[in-house]
Amino acid sequence: MPASSSTRSGERPRVAVVGAGQLARMTHAAAIDLDVELRVLAADPAESAASAGAMHVIGDPRSLEDLRVLAAGCDAVTFDHEQIPHEHLRALEDAGLRLRPGPSAKRAAQDKLHARRVLRDLGLPVPEFAEAASLGDVEALAARTGWPVVLKARTGGYDGRGVVMAADRAEAGRVLGSGGEWLAEAMVPIARELSALVARRPSGEAVAYPTACTVQREAMCREIHLPSGAGPGADDRARDLALELAEAIDATGIMAVELFETAGGELLVNELALRPHNSGHWTIEGSVTSQFHNHLRAVLDWPLGVTDLVAPAVATVNVVGPADGSDPRDRVAEALAVPGAQVHLYGKAARPGRKLGHVTVAGEQPDEVRAAARRAAELLQGEELA
Ligand SMILES: Nc1ncnc2c1ncn2[C@@H]1O[C@H](COP(=O)(O)OP(=O)(O)OP(=O)(O)O)[C@@H](O)[C@H]1O
Ligand SMILES: [Mg+2]
Repeated sequence: MPASSSTRSGERPRVAVVGAGQLARMTHAAAIDLDVELRVLAADPAESAASAGAMHVIGDPRSLEDLRVLAAGCDAVTFDHEQIPHEHLRALEDAGLRLRPGPSAKRAAQDKLHARRVLRDLGLPVPEFAEAASLGDVEALAARTGWPVVLKARTGGYDGRGVVMAADRAEAGRVLGSGGEWLAEAMVPIARELSALVARRPSGEAVAYPTACTVQREAMCREIHLPSGAGPGADDRARDLALELAEAIDATGIMAVELFETAGGELLVNELALRPHNSGHWTIEGSVTSQFHNHLRAVLDWPLGVTDLVAPAVATVNVVGPADGSDPRDRVAEALAVPGAQVHLYGKAARPGRKLGHVTVAGEQPDEVRAAARRAAELLQGEELA
């Protein structure tokens, strides 16, 4: 086993991150605060975390050799995405590396069908689902739930890519015919989407953040609101469910649980992320301890930080590349003129529809912080304001 961070006196702990996107970039900022040496795996030096100055190894997460180079000498290995072949995770663990989370827990975020089965076997509420190996499987589900049926790529999806609401048999046939492995599930009448975020250490200590409401447009998360506005008891139920799940699957680091709240007040688990998550970006300014600090603390098995809100209301609005291809960087000064707007840009090349940053505002009134965060994000996106 590599030396424990707590036993290698006088040296900085070293954490490897598989990935170099915005999550690794914001983890890098926390690593600077904690004097942790962060080493990220980047496809090229222009990637978000690498361009921000994080030490990087150039490589590919599908290459076991590149993963070994990244992880060599590190006290813990963690992730900013899910696209790592599962067998590579096992191989790294077998080589004595500390994976945070470990391969079994991580799999619940890598394969949506596996996640559904794990959740169901734990007795946790999920939408009705089936493996969609054939069109017959989808039709059998539709016979119970009706159309449309939601088809999801088992692996590799994000920001709604890999999620199709299939209206009928013909559309489902086209989706399955496009290749890949699919999961089918009932279309849920969603009243609200929630996110329950927890941090958990290998030794078992866990903390939960206040439950947030997430707002998606075209299946991409665009806004995060606190308080969530969820029905009676729903915030606490979501938090308790996330804590129970984290323990059951031995999650380590940050875990985000995306949930659907139905009109009847029922909660269903949508998907899991075992890494810092977009729905937790509000914690940078809106919580006593950000998800990135708590992620590092958790993966190094250090005491976790307090998760309380710093103000009664917090809103985060994502900044997405505008259709005209223009760059939000050029409009930073305008957005910063919005009182209270905390602007984060990820250093990514501007492309239409790509998440390029976010804005957080914390304050007294939910309506006011949402309006201010939206205004700043719209300015960054170059939108005409009403
Ligand atoms: N069964 C469902 N019923 C209704 N809407 C759904 C269902 N599944 C997904 N959606 C909608 O599609 C969105 C994206 O789905 P999901 O979270 O599974 O995909 P994703 O692309 O992996 O997302 P992420 O960007 O969070 O990784 C959800 O947030 C929700 O708005
Ligand atoms: Mg999702």
